[in-house]
Amino acid sequence: MSIPTRQLGQGLEVAEIGLGCMGMSQFYGQPVDDADGIATIRGALDLGVTFLDTADMYGPFTNERLVGKALVGRREEVVLATKFGNVRNDDGSRRIDGSPAYVRKACDDSLQRLGVEVIDLYYCHRRDRTVPIEDTVGAMAELVEAGKVRHLGLSEMSGETIRAAHAVHPITAVQSEYSIFTRDIEDEVLPTMAELGIGLVAYSPLGRGLLTGTLPKGGKGEGDTRGSAYFPRFAGEAYDANQVLVGKLTEIASARGITPAQLALAWVLAKGRSYTVIPGTTKLSRVEENAGAADVTLTADDLAAIEVAVPAGAVAGDRYGDMSSVNG
Ligand code: ATR
Repeated sequence: MSIPTRQLGQGLEVAEIGLGCMGMSQFYGQPVDDADGIATIRGALDLGVTFLDTADMYGPFTNERLVGKALVGRREEVVLATKFGNVRNDDGSRRIDGSPAYVRKACDDSLQRLGVEVIDLYYCHRRDRTVPIEDTVGAMAELVEAGKVRHLGLSEMSGETIRAAHAVHPITAVQSEYSIFTRDIEDEVLPTMAELGIGLVAYSPLGRGLLTGTLPKGGKGEGDTRGSAYFPRFAGEAYDANQVLVGKLTEIASARGITPAQLALAWVLAKGRSYTVIPGTTKLSRVEENAGAADVTLTADDLAAIEVAVPAGAVAGDRYGDMSSVNG
């Protein structure tokens, strides 16, 4: 099986449906066993899902190690993306570090954990507002010169920041949350990216599971942060209101003979030619289901029906409890 490819920026071609590996290690419940995670990742590669996404902060560190183990002997099959910049303090709280010295150290550490010689796409995970973006990207550009990184990306940055970064070194991709439920980047970020020839890697394209119609209220129990104040859409009245919207999308999906997850992914892919999705899952059966979205072409009528059922901004609850570190 193969998945169609799309061009991000700078000629980087990736499977239009990738795999977000975060949830295998943290945030959405208990971490998976290494053997299960490795089987899911390697099974994904067999299906043509060859665009893998991780970050040093997932775990922290364990997700990169897991991806590294899964890639033994198969490194050349994948476009491998990881990220730096979110740093855990000893008490578990988070800070953002975009200083050039940190960029250099973080990259060396990620290469070691992943067990690879080069990272295909290296993202600055969040903007450090105490460091000029030009300095952060300048340090990232040196990694390209050193052959440690092939392409540069940014995550959750404003149009203005993307433009300033791109002037220092061409940016290949911006990774931001984008789905039927999260459309904030449409006003400013996506037009800037289109102008500069930068591709989109949409994370949480399934609304962190909500858009699949299978996510229980408050998440899946122990270790699932979707029940916490960190993510306000998944508990209490917000969840109930959002389930009504999911019900409408499920009806549209059923009429098309596809699953709600496939509808959600096909919607993102229909919105832009250089848009890609990296749905996260721990299960190979769902990788396969999600890969099936590549065969779905939504018509203009389908898109209109979806956007009438769930207009931009209709979702209840912010995407993060603390929105201060996104859109930086
Ligand atoms: P993120 O990018 O943050 O990982 P996402 O891709 O929008 O978020 O959604 C991920 C969630 O959707 C996970 O909780 C995943 O759960 P499993 O690991 O149990 O699969 C869930 N998910 C992914 N694909 C799914 C599918 N096809 N059907 C139902 N749930 C799915």
